[in-house]
Amino acid sequence: VNALRSASAQSAASTALRAMSTGSNDMKVAVLGGAGGIGQPLSMLMKISHPPAHVSEVAVYDLAHAKGVAADLSHIDTPSSCHGYVGNEELGAALTGSKIVIIPAGVPRKPGMTRDDLFNTNASIVKSLAEACAKYCPEACIAIISNPVNSTVPIAAEALKKAGVYDPRKLFGVTTLDVVRARTFIGQNKGFDPQSINVPVIGGHAGGTILPLLSRVEPSCSFSDEDRDALTDRIQNGGTEVVQAKAGAGSATLSMAWAGAQFAFSLIRALKGEKGIVECAMVESDVTECQYFSTPIELGVNGIERNLGLGELSDYEKHKLDTEVIPELKASIEKGINSWMAQV
Ligand code: NAI
Repeated sequence: VNALRSASAQSAASTALRAMSTGSNDMKVAVLGGAGGIGQPLSMLMKISHPPAHVSEVAVYDLAHAKGVAADLSHIDTPSSCHGYVGNEELGAALTGSKIVIIPAGVPRKPGMTRDDLFNTNASIVKSLAEACAKYCPEACIAIISNPVNSTVPIAAEALKKAGVYDPRKLFGVTTLDVVRARTFIGQNKGFDPQSINVPVIGGHAGGTILPLLSRVEPSCSFSDEDRDALTDRIQNGGTEVVQAKAGAGSATLSMAWAGAQFAFSLIRALKGEKGIVECAMVESDVTECQYFSTPIELGVNGIERNLGLGELSDYEKHKLDTEVIPELKASIEKGINSWMAQV
């Protein structure tokens, strides 16, 4: 009897395994920069994903070391497959068939640097990777982690437009780490489980362009002016806290991988048809005068289903939006677009 039970369990498992790696459950995710500080744990989180956000195939792409990372991950006993691709000549194979491309390729900050100091190096990396996406997986959703996100997202958009495949519903600047930090710091302040907290973080992804909407925290709660100021400041500068603690060894990698995975899992669920999934992300937008702006976005089978907009803001948040977020973010977006113009 036990042998029969075990045989039928095995056959059920292999049927489930086949279903996961074929048909509508196909969900190839490529991680570009997959052997880096963010790329490795992010690729691992993709490898250990499970329904309803199951990834059937993880493509780890980098300029070096991606095969080793993929070989290592491929021994994890989960149903996803995992392959490594190295160098420009294997980029096409990494991207072909991908439904989602996550891009954490590029250099991270060292103490004393702003995200904008990374511009020169990372702008051209993101440009060339976006061009490759246009060629090999023009219908994929692209999630950009490489900083400065406020400028790399417009650069990727221009590259996709030039190739004639730009779909504004499918390009995202990943700002989820700001939401993850907001949840964590608010949880500590209020004694709440951070996972139970919902808080929109709008604007961009750099210092003063990051605006957590503390007036809209769920479960509903209020903050003294002092706590509100301190929390806003800590959420805006959480990245620098990590850069300083790492003392020259880079910026947030593990928390970023976690945040990137949360965003990817939400996107996967939405692409597979689940309704009502909302994430904040920097996307093309007409909500403010900034051409790209992060607000809560309802995701769907084609990427962005609906931009939920700014919603109601407190006077404090309105003031910060007008005097800090919009002017700085507009300038960073223009810088991205101008650099694109200079390169073409
Ligand atoms: P890292 O240096 O550890 O890894 C970057 C990887 O990208 C390296 O393995 C490198 O070989 C690879 N790479 C460089 N050029 C490439 C190319 N043309 N094609 C493919 N791979 C390429 O850096 P880390 O810590 O993983 O950070 C990556 C980026 O993510 C940085 O720009 C950093 O500022 C950004 N970041 C963004 C955050 C966000 O919230 N959006 C948070 C934290 C970091």
